[in-house]
Amino acid sequence: MFRGNIHLYSGRELENVRTAARASAEVLDRLAAVVVPGMTTLDIDRLSAQYMKEAGGVSCDLGYHGYPGHICISLNDEVVHGIGRADRMVMPGDLVSLDVSVAVNGFCGDNARTICAGVPAQGVAATLMETTERSLYAGIAAAREGNCVNDIGRAVESVVTAGGFQVVRDMVGHGCGRRMHEEPEVPNYYLRELNIPLRAGMIICIEPMVNVGTWRIKVDPKDGWTCRTADGSLSAHFEHQILITKEEPEILTVCQNNPKTASHSKA
Ligand code: MF3
Ligand code: CO
Repeated sequence: MFRGNIHLYSGRELENVRTAARASAEVLDRLAAVVVPGMTTLDIDRLSAQYMKEAGGVSCDLGYHGYPGHICISLNDEVVHGIGRADRMVMPGDLVSLDVSVAVNGFCGDNARTICAGVPAQGVAATLMETTERSLYAGIAAAREGNCVNDIGRAVESVVTAGGFQVVRDMVGHGCGRRMHEEPEVPNYYLRELNIPLRAGMIICIEPMVNVGTWRIKVDPKDGWTCRTADGSLSAHFEHQILITKEEPEILTVCQNNPKTASHSKA
C-alpha cells in the first residue's frame, strides 16, 4: 500500500508550473528545429542554455546530483542522460533524444523528444520513434482521475510490446512541479502493487524509453551518467508533463504560440 506524499497543484502554484512547462516546451521545440548533422552535442547543450535564458528560465539538470550539462542529449543506443561533448558530432540519420527541464520562478518543467538528424528516419528507427511517441499518448490517455498510476504503465507497455520493442525498466516517469522529481514514480510498465489513485491536481511526467532490443541498460563507467542499451540497439524517448484532471489530462509542455508543435505526430 502506498503511503507517500503526492502534492495536488492548484491556484498560483499550478500557474507557476504551467509557465515552467511552457518554457521547457519552447526550448525543446526551438532545439529540435535547429539540430542538424555536423553539430556537436556540446553545441546543442550551449544552445539550450541560451534558449533557456531567453525563455526566462534556468536548467533543472545542471548540478542535479552533480550533472554537468544543461540538458540531456542521447544518441542512437544512448537511452538517456547523455552529456553534451565537444568530441561527439551528430551524423546524418542519428536518433537524437533531447530531454529539456527548465525551472522558472523555482518551478520545474520537463519534456523530451527524439528526432532523426538531417534525414527522415527509415526502417526500424522510424518505427521505433513512432511507436514510442504513440505509447506516450496511450499513457496520457490512461492518466485520469479514477485510474491508478499502474494503468499508465500498462497502456504504455501494451503499445510498445505490440510493436515488438521493449520498455526500459530501470528508469521511470515521475511527479514534477515544485521539484523536478517528485512522487509518485511512473513506470512505463505494469506493476500490480502500484495501485495509487490518480487525483485531479497531480502533475506527472510520462516518459517512455523504448529499445529495439533488450530493455536492459548500462551506465557509462567513465562519465557515470550516459545510459546505453546493453545490446547496443537503438533507443527512443518521448516525454510530456501533464496535469491530471477529472476528464482528459492537460498536457502542460506545449508551446504558447503553437500548441501543435509540442509533438510532431500526436496519435
Ligand atoms: N530531465 C530528466 C527527466 O526526464 C532528468 C535528468 S536528470 C540529469 O527526468 F541529472 F541527468 F540531468
Ligand atoms: Co522526466
